[in-house]
Amino acid sequence: MKEKVIAANFKMNKINSEIAGYFNVFLNNLNEFKNTVQKDPFADSEIIFAPPFTSLAETFRIISSYSGNISLASQNIYHENKGAYTGEISLDMIKSCGCAYAIVGHSERRNIFKEDDELISKKIKAIYCSENIVPILCVGENLKVREKGLQEDFVGKQLEKNLAPVREIVLDNPVPLVIAYEPVWAIGTGMPIKPEDGENMHKFIYKFIKSDFPEVDLRVIYGGSVTGANIETLMGMPHIDGVLVGGASLDPVSFSDICKSAVK
Ligand code: PGA
Repeated sequence: MKEKVIAANFKMNKINSEIAGYFNVFLNNLNEFKNTVQKDPFADSEIIFAPPFTSLAETFRIISSYSGNISLASQNIYHENKGAYTGEISLDMIKSCGCAYAIVGHSERRNIFKEDDELISKKIKAIYCSENIVPILCVGENLKVREKGLQEDFVGKQLEKNLAPVREIVLDNPVPLVIAYEPVWAIGTGMPIKPEDGENMHKFIYKFIKSDFPEVDLRVIYGGSVTGANIETLMGMPHIDGVLVGGASLDPVSFSDICKSAVK
């Protein structure tokens, strides 16, 4: 995996006909920026887009013609291959649309759609048992847990439960894994984590995962009210490898600004 990961999560926003216009602006901004510098500023970075399922193919069509490190992610998957699972989307389906990543366990899936740790762990297992998809596993505590200072304990348990069934696979293998640390109280609230607090949690996640799985190719990215105003300080933290951006990724100018600042 590339050193830095800058991901956009469109959530349930944008219809197909809005995608081309978005990328027209986004890619132009990126190209203009690239032309002002000598070395490709994004050479060590990967920009990932997670549009709704309905726009995966259209997004892939557009990013495929761009010569840069831009990849596609699904916002969710179901762990079964095929069958009578109305409304669900399998790994083969997202692969056929060009996805290289899959977000799993986003707090909105956990809270609104009641996905529990067991289901999330099945999804992670399905990803590692298939090929060519990298999981972006989201974890993070709610405000009550943070106020009690129990965030490490909480996130540690989430990681333990969500990764338990893939122990054998991940143990001595350099498989890629992205953890998105997204404190629930920071998502969509305009209240991002303090960079030092984020650094502490990311350090904890690194230590936690690496002590169990020393070989894993790990990136720990932060999500929760990331904007152009805080991206540089967040990315300045040694254990913050990237960001997962929701609201501020919906506007191509603001997201291209975030991408540019992330690689400064
Ligand atoms: P936000 O969302 O940037 O709007 O806070 C982040 C996320 O949910 O991934």
